[in-house]
Amino acid sequence: MMEKTAVLEQFDVYGIRKDFPILTRTVNGKPLVYLDNGATTQKPLQVIDAIRHYYTELNSNVHRGVHHLSQLATDAFEVTRHQLKGFINAAHDHEIIITKGTTDSINLVASSFGSAFVKTGDEIIISAMEHHSNIVPWQLLCEDRGAVLRVVPINAAGELDMDAYRALLTDRTKLVAITYVSNSLGTVNPVREIIEAAHANGTPVLLDAAQAIQHIAIDVQALDVDFLAFSGHKMYGPTGVGVLYGKEKWLDAMPPYQGGGEMIKEVTFEKTTYNELPFKFEAGTPNIEAGISLAAAIGYIQDIGMDRIAAYEHGLLEYATARLLEIPGIRLIGTAANKSSVLSFLVDGAHPYDVGVILDKLGVAVRTGHHCTQPLMDWYGIPGTVRASIAMYNTREDIDTLAAGVQKAASMLV
Ligand code: ALA
Repeated sequence: MMEKTAVLEQFDVYGIRKDFPILTRTVNGKPLVYLDNGATTQKPLQVIDAIRHYYTELNSNVHRGVHHLSQLATDAFEVTRHQLKGFINAAHDHEIIITKGTTDSINLVASSFGSAFVKTGDEIIISAMEHHSNIVPWQLLCEDRGAVLRVVPINAAGELDMDAYRALLTDRTKLVAITYVSNSLGTVNPVREIIEAAHANGTPVLLDAAQAIQHIAIDVQALDVDFLAFSGHKMYGPTGVGVLYGKEKWLDAMPPYQGGGEMIKEVTFEKTTYNELPFKFEAGTPNIEAGISLAAAIGYIQDIGMDRIAAYEHGLLEYATARLLEIPGIRLIGTAANKSSVLSFLVDGAHPYDVGVILDKLGVAVRTGHHCTQPLMDWYGIPGTVRASIAMYNTREDIDTLAAGVQKAASMLV
């Protein structure tokens, strides 16, 4: 306990907040309390400055020009790739594919891995708590290949049924695609066990790390995960850029996802040969400004330290959970033993949307609805939840304002 308090004291959240200019603005005449970080995080000045620097000093296309600016932009873009490699401890820079975001990364694997390795009667395993972006690409693949989607069930707390998972692994299983942290529940899944069991079955694993990468230190080699997908904009970086990490052996064995410039070695009308990794999977001009400025976001996180961020956020989540549970009529959705950053809840007798509108009037930004996890909401038999999702710049005062707002909403609506 003393150790945890010491970590919280050392964590200069008020200093960090100064780097995020938007946090000083008001909304509806009230100071902004931003608790919609699961949807997107705010950006520090370091990222905003990097975007400005790109357009004032570097703007040109990457991997194409011999001219000075193109080389500077290319170097900066590749610095990001190298930094990403270090951030998740990949073995090689070329295992980092720069994509548009998590959705793009998952679609890449569904399309490319699917066309190389999935046949009629094969099975893909996902879980009941997946985001639509880790459901629909696999449904499309299954329809296309005549394959079957298998779904790992959960318990009432929102934890995976690991026995059911193990029972689903068979010689028909071609891939396991599971979220690291649930965007709707905050459940942190036992990814090591998931990967070990899949590998014992000879099956590769894709982790959707969209809600994990900004909260948990991830080492892809220690996890031995085969694919990892995440987005820049949820880790204090710009929108329109994300990552697919893939083990070299898989990426080498997979065909290109999209055709176009950059991904080719030689094109004739008779035959095209493909570029080497990572460029084989990076057709067309990328989002250069986002790719380059993502390095600033990673640097920002690394300077603070992921372990310190995780410890601080964990303390804040515990505080928020306790504060919300003080409110009569509150029902938490997602009470897993191992949780990160997300508080989904309902107020008895009130629609989540109405609670969200009242909170907005008080300057508190939360997400309401199904959070792109409709099958999960159906499982709970609810239309949606109110979701407060925290980031490293949130404070106990933010949580107090949220709790007061929810209390007010309950008194107005119930
Ligand atoms: N997937 C994001 C969320 O959970 C947008 O809000």
